[in-house]
Amino acid sequence: MPRKSKKNIDSDLKKQEALKKSGEIPTHIAIIMDGNGRWARMRGLPRVAGHREGVESVRDIVEACGQLGVKYLTLYAFSTENWRRPQDEVSMLMRLLMKALRDEADKLNKNNVCLKAIGDITKLPNPVQNELLDAIVKTQNNTGLNLLLALSYSGRWDITQAVKKIYYDCRSGNLDIDSINEDIITKYLSTQGIPDPDLLIRTSGEFRVSNFLLWQLAYTEIYISKLNWPDFRRDELYKAIADYQKRERRFGMISNQIKQKKN
Ligand code: FPP
Repeated sequence: MPRKSKKNIDSDLKKQEALKKSGEIPTHIAIIMDGNGRWARMRGLPRVAGHREGVESVRDIVEACGQLGVKYLTLYAFSTENWRRPQDEVSMLMRLLMKALRDEADKLNKNNVCLKAIGDITKLPNPVQNELLDAIVKTQNNTGLNLLLALSYSGRWDITQAVKKIYYDCRSGNLDIDSINEDIITKYLSTQGIPDPDLLIRTSGEFRVSNFLLWQLAYTEIYISKLNWPDFRRDELYKAIADYQKRERRFGMISNQIKQKKN
C-alpha cells in the first residue's frame, strides 16, 4: 500500500474526529468480506490477486478501527463452506493467511491489537495453526482493538459445538438442564464474553448472512456496501458507521421507550 502523505493523514484524522462527535462508534463491527474474485475478474487478473488486495483492505480497516476506538472487529476470513472451493484456491488462501499472520503479528502487537480466532481451528493445516497461535500469544495482553478472525467458522457450527458442550456439562453434573437460558447458551458459543455485533457490514452488494454469527446477529444493524472487498477501505467504513449512527436500535421496543432509557 502506498505510504500516506501528512495531508492525507490529517484529513483522515479530521474524518475520524467528526465521526466520534456525530454519534456512537459501534463497540463491535463484524464484516463479511466478499467480492475478491469479482474484483480480480473485472481486471482480467487471477483470483489470487483479489485475495492479495483483500489483505490490504484488512490492514486498512484494522488500523482505522483501532484509531476510532472500536473494541471488537470480527472478520469472516474463511467459512466452513469455503473448504468446498477448488483445492488450489483453498491452499492459496491458507498460504496467504499464514503470510499475513507472519508479516503483521509484530505490527498488530505494536498497535495494541489483541488477536483472537473463532471457528474449528483444528481443521486448519498445522503450519497455519502454529502461525495463528504464535500471533495470538504475542498479542494476548494487548488492550486496544480485539481482532477476531473467523476461520473455518460457521454460525451453525458454533451453535452445534455449543449444544455438544452443554450436553457434556449436563451429563457430568456441572450444569443443571433447567437453568439453561439465552445467557447460558451465549456463554457456550465461541464468542463467549464478547458483546454481540452492533454493526454487520457485507461487501459486494450481496444481501445474505451466509452462515455467519447466526445467534449473535439477532439485533445487529446491517450495512451492505456495493464495493468489492479489495476496494473497501476506511472511507467506506466511515460511511457505514455514519449510516449506523442514524439508525434507531429498538431491540423490539417502541421509540419512546428507547428515548426514556437514554435520558
Ligand atoms: C470472499 O471473496 C473472500 C474470501 C472467501 C476470503 C477472504 C480472505 C482474505 C481477504 C484474505 C485473508 C484474510 C486475512 C484476515 C488476512 P470471494 O472469493 O468469495 O469473491 P467472489 O464472491 O467475488 O468470488
